[in-house]
Amino acid sequence: MRTPVMAGNWKMYKNPAETRTFFEAFLPLVQNTADREIVICPPFVNLPAAVGAAQNSRVEIGAQNLYWAREGAYTGEISGPMIHAVGAKWVIIGHSERRQYFGETDETVYRRTVAALEAGLKPIVCVGENLGQRESGATESVLGDQFAGGITPLTADQFAQIVIAYEPVWAIGTGKTATPDMANDAHRFLRSQAAKFGQSAAAAVRILYGGSVKADNAKILMGQSEIDGALVGGASLDPKSFAAIVNF
Ligand code: 13P
Repeated sequence: MRTPVMAGNWKMYKNPAETRTFFEAFLPLVQNTADREIVICPPFVNLPAAVGAAQNSRVEIGAQNLYWAREGAYTGEISGPMIHAVGAKWVIIGHSERRQYFGETDETVYRRTVAALEAGLKPIVCVGENLGQRESGATESVLGDQFAGGITPLTADQFAQIVIAYEPVWAIGTGKTATPDMANDAHRFLRSQAAKFGQSAAAAVRILYGGSVKADNAKILMGQSEIDGALVGGASLDPKSFAAIVNF
């Protein structure tokens, strides 16, 4: 049985005061939800406010990125031990926006994932094809390459601690959702790639869907056999809409 993970990726939205306001409204709406993990990933500067606000709740906090060195002369970067020290437990790695705008590659995804695990953080490792790749029939080869470069080099122990997020780039922020069947097929393909770590590891890994998840499509997506949670962008910024997704 895979426990669902309902995660919000706030991207570059909200300041600390807005973060506290969100949690005041959000926490009462999810306090009776027991059978799933709830994660919110705000911008770095809001991590202390979010951790403080989520204390005494089941909601856990994550960062949206990390650098792989523990410390050093890397102006502007944030390390895993720093994220861990402020009380965050998760970190998103290799989001398509990081790949598209900030030059991240499958190799840096791998390095960040190892660094996250060494810092005691739970990585949410993102993969996904863009529209051109989907339309030319390359979805599986793209996902296979991203998996092979970013995830396959992990050890079996490391793999057992990660969560994967399938986010088709063409569905992010566009209002276009992959159909439940399309998402389920991609998830099944990713799970087949995970068989390299053994059948039971593949059966256990949680694969989240991301891309225009909203309150009105969360239930049908979450009803798919291979979908184990959601990574939600825009709809996670509003407490009511994210609570409705979490409580799908
Ligand atoms: P949207 O939910 O806004 O489409 O964003 C998805 C996403 O990128 C989550 O990481």
